Amino acid sequence: MMSDTIQKLGEIGIIPVIAIEDAATAVSLGQALLDGGLPCAEITFRTAAAADAIRQMSAAHPDILVGAGTVLTTAQAAQAKEAGAKFVVTPGFDVRVVDWCLANDMPITPGVMTPTDINQALAKGLDILKFFPAEAAGGIKTLKAIGGPYVGVKFIPTGGIGENNLADYLRLPMVHACGGSFMVKKQWIAEGQFDQIRRVAETAVHIVNTVRREK
Ligand code: 3PG
Repeated sequence: MMSDTIQKLGEIGIIPVIAIEDAATAVSLGQALLDGGLPCAEITFRTAAAADAIRQMSAAHPDILVGAGTVLTTAQAAQAKEAGAKFVVTPGFDVRVVDWCLANDMPITPGVMTPTDINQALAKGLDILKFFPAEAAGGIKTLKAIGGPYVGVKFIPTGGIGENNLADYLRLPMVHACGGSFMVKKQWIAEGQFDQIRRVAETAVHIVNTVRREK
């Protein structure tokens, strides 16, 4: 059964993928996302500040669904949970991280790129999967081809998605939501350009809503 959290990510439609260098920026960043109409965030374990940033954003903004991204080890998954993360995203399919999340009631969207990866996820009862790296792995063409045999599997394409191609991905029936870092560029966070982040978040939300109205 789909967790409420993963279902909510599908309703939101777009997940900002964030690398935070200074955890103190997490609260303002969260406010910018909320102001832009985007109540979720995937804070990646690419920086040492990840767990602290998850903690600060979750505490200040209970309305934001804060998750942990780039989770490569069970230790990071445990840190993410302890910090208050509501979901875990991994770039590839790691059975140890998946098993840890399943055993610890942590919703997870593991990364997949090939049919073999998808089979492994299905064997664990998971059918909402990150498709990574989306554009480099053939993008929409590959997703359409994979969607043939894997009826019922939904994907969160991430990697190379921006304002230019977001709508095309969202129109695919097998797409649950899209992920991307384009709304929260590192430089904008570092320079405190939160208004810029709010504006791009607003544009992304507008694209999601426009595609929804078409359906
Ligand atoms: C990820 O961690 O999911 C990706 O690196 C995000 O890809 P993007 O930076 O191309 O959006």
